[in-house]
Amino acid sequence: MDKLKVLVTGGLGFIGLEVAKVLVEQKVPVLLFDNLSPQIHGAVPDLAGLGLLHSAQVEVFRGDVSKPSDWAVALENIGAVVHLAAETGTAQSMYEISRYTETNVGGTAALLNHLANHQHGVSKIILASSRSVYGEGAYQCRSCGLVYPPARSEEMFRSAQWQPSCPFCRRPIEAAPTPEEARTVPASIYAATKLAQEDLVRVASQALGIPAVIYRFQNVYGEGQSLKNPYTGILSIFSNQLRLGKTIHLYEDGQESRDFVHVSDIARAVVRGLDYEGADGATLNVGSGEPTSVAQVAALLQERFGVQIQPVISGQYRLGDIRHGYADLTAIRSRLGFAPEVSLDEGLTRFVEWVKAQPLQLDRLDRASAELMARGLMPAPFPSEAPTDVRQNIHAKAASV
Ligand SMILES: NC(=O)c1ccc[n+]([C@@H]2O[C@H](COP(=O)([O-])OP(=O)(O)OC[C@H]3O[C@@H](n4cnc5c(N)ncnc54)[C@H](O)[C@@H]3O)[C@@H](O)[C@H]2O)c1
Ligand SMILES: [Zn+2]
Repeated sequence: MDKLKVLVTGGLGFIGLEVAKVLVEQKVPVLLFDNLSPQIHGAVPDLAGLGLLHSAQVEVFRGDVSKPSDWAVALENIGAVVHLAAETGTAQSMYEISRYTETNVGGTAALLNHLANHQHGVSKIILASSRSVYGEGAYQCRSCGLVYPPARSEEMFRSAQWQPSCPFCRRPIEAAPTPEEARTVPASIYAATKLAQEDLVRVASQALGIPAVIYRFQNVYGEGQSLKNPYTGILSIFSNQLRLGKTIHLYEDGQESRDFVHVSDIARAVVRGLDYEGADGATLNVGSGEPTSVAQVAALLQERFGVQIQPVISGQYRLGDIRHGYADLTAIRSRLGFAPEVSLDEGLTRFVEWVKAQPLQLDRLDRASAELMARGLMPAPFPSEAPTDVRQNIHAKAASV
């Protein structure tokens, strides 16, 4: 029997291409549905280098997920949908609210609306959600157990009080793995749209009887991630700066941490969710399950690029950023037998080898940072510490998408 065709929305993006690669290896036909957003692909998208697109199993449909008529075309002869298309810049979402909502929420609504009202062959939906729906991650308090501190206040940021304390007894707390049952407290419009996508898919999948798997990805990195988009991807941003011989400016004290997971592990989880029923109806974290500080990741990159310039702790911050967040992987392990396979060490080596083979990107962070400052989401740099070209050096660190 022929394998069912899988529609991958956002299929020409970072994660989409990796998912397509794994599906093609499994001889599954795929249709990549993507609008080639200029922010990700540049004004004139260049797909010539994508060998995958020459495979007979791969088709591309250029369309917009927020347009119902494009779904009608895209969903013809489709057996499963992997819905990845989204606007993904956390900070940018705070002032491009309509755009983010139209694509992320409107796009998901248009998919579900089509499935509810037309004949179709879709028997599974996989939705890419994000750890950002949690806001600040889980923490362990010695007296109170697992606690969920609220978002840090502006006052805490201003007084460089980076670490949250126990919301009950005020004592110091340590970051702990965040389970799926954690409260969801989106701290950005981006996160709010991801949570809305989740709710829409959960409710509609039950009503329509189409099994859905919702994945909360942690910070995904790896070969193929956009080196052009100044709004997302801390590893891309740091790599560009190192290649340009610029100093990396670390926000806060550099000790804030994230869960960095290699894109090949994400793609394996997606395909496993398609192949097996174990995760149907579930909402699952996908990550490495380990925290890594931003300072540590900068040091690992520096080592691999062979650059000696030491990073500077800028004391800069971005309102709404979380301090720590890493995944509890118990649920995905028991539902799908899934565990990440690529260590940070190996993943970064692969990533840096790939970056070195890419054309050098101009540092566009000055524009992204200036936008944040103009909107009061990031303070201007302290004059005493700021070199004259500080604006070019400040990185717009991606909060966890
Ligand atoms: N990369 C991460 O660290 C991360 C973490 C958590 C969740 N996610 C989620 O995973 C998904 C994929 O992320 P990614 O990192 O591959 O992003 P990406 O920006 O590389 O890819 C997104 C793709 O979607 C396309 N797209 C954007 N708007 C569209 C529209 N209106 N219609 C059709 N296509 C459109 C873009 O052209 C792009 O090719 C997103 O839903 C994102 O929220 C990513
Ligand atoms: Zn306590």
